[in-house]
Amino acid sequence: MEKFIIHGGEPLAGEVTIGGAKNHALKLFAASVLFEDPITIQNVPLIEDIFRMKELLEGLGAKITKTGQNDFCIDSSGIFRTDLDREITKRFRASVVLVGPLLARFGRVSLPHPGGCVFGERPIDLFIAGFEQMGAQFKEKDDCYVFEADNLRGADFTFRIPSVTVTETLMLAAVLTEGKVTLRNAACEPEIEALAHYLNSAGAKIRGAGTQTIVIEGLGKHARLKSNKPSQIIPDRIEAGSFLILGSLLATDLRIKKCRPEHLASLIVHLEAAGVNVEVGSDWMGVCRPETFTSLDLKTREYPGFPTDLQAPFSVFLTQTKGKSQVFETVFDGRLEYMIDLKRMGAEITICDPHRAIILGPTPLHGREMESPDLRAGLAFVIAALVAKGRSTIHNVYQIDRGYERIEEKLKQINANIKRVD
Ligand code: UD1
Repeated sequence: MEKFIIHGGEPLAGEVTIGGAKNHALKLFAASVLFEDPITIQNVPLIEDIFRMKELLEGLGAKITKTGQNDFCIDSSGIFRTDLDREITKRFRASVVLVGPLLARFGRVSLPHPGGCVFGERPIDLFIAGFEQMGAQFKEKDDCYVFEADNLRGADFTFRIPSVTVTETLMLAAVLTEGKVTLRNAACEPEIEALAHYLNSAGAKIRGAGTQTIVIEGLGKHARLKSNKPSQIIPDRIEAGSFLILGSLLATDLRIKKCRPEHLASLIVHLEAAGVNVEVGSDWMGVCRPETFTSLDLKTREYPGFPTDLQAPFSVFLTQTKGKSQVFETVFDGRLEYMIDLKRMGAEITICDPHRAIILGPTPLHGREMESPDLRAGLAFVIAALVAKGRSTIHNVYQIDRGYERIEEKLKQINANIKRVD
């Protein structure tokens, strides 16, 4: 098992280039199932979750070729199976996105309970409710979930909770339904809009993606999309945001290139309220550490609110601000457990319940040995270790590699003392 050894407390400076968004690329891989011809996807991050999605699709019969450093060509026309690999699916939540296009095209999909990051319950009730409304039958058989539908039909579905993956999965399925599907109180994340944009360029009829109401005019079960241009993965806003937080804490001058600052408006206003000056260009951001920080409260929300995926890195930031901050995680249960390790590093944190914590700062952090619990908290530990005095060891780097390509190389480029060892 690989680990990171980090010596913290040093200032950072330089430039970092942001890669393609994991949460956009994964969904485009799944969308390939709707196409009659191979699709080319560019700017794909080389991360473990993408490799798992590639293995899953190949297991079903797709042909995937790496055509450039970050480019893939996916031919899903020859898919002949619709039972998702048990081992991969149990470890990898985003595999569930495949249910939408597979069900629409083949009429049957089976999978075990999809796993992934260890926080909270991560139920699938909204997938079931959405597909049932579109005419599918759901049953549990031999420890597997089975969805069946001869023909998916039009529906008007209102989300009880706006879910990113469910919005995307239902949207993908709806492309091949008979009739119109309306999704209300849908998630609005930029990756959903980008996915719809590419599907529309290939013949789909989707309106409103990126807003709370999405309307899809289905093309029918036997229709297929036709790709007429490569798809470009949008920059990863969570990677960019994590570097912005790191730069606010430690940089004498950090420039974050190839990002979309408009996707990070909520993080930027939070940092500014804490006293950080963020320079914003059309596709770059600049940041350096201010002399003092002010504490502030944080509440995660669906997009365009503060992303839950930046809650852990931002909480590390709050350990260095002056005064009392409250962190309120509203999206997931159990996403504050990593704070126990921050406390062991010297942070003054009271975890009030599974959703709320109080942080008192600023407190010096000291290096220690930690285990990455999931990809976002894993990166937060890297940030904490870079802030801390002394040496830290972060185990279970696989979790960080799930979401961030060559993170230690990017960090080294800006002066960080980080080493990957076996
Ligand atoms: C996606 C992102 C993840 C991000 C999250 C929230 C991907 C691959 N992952 O995850 O990085 O942290 O959005 O921005 O895109 N829920 C239910 N029932 C369901 C499904 C979801 O109750 O059937 C709940 C979840 O438990 C959670 C809430 O809905 O409380 C939102 O989660 P959701 O948006 O579904 O997260 P993911 O799509 O899994």
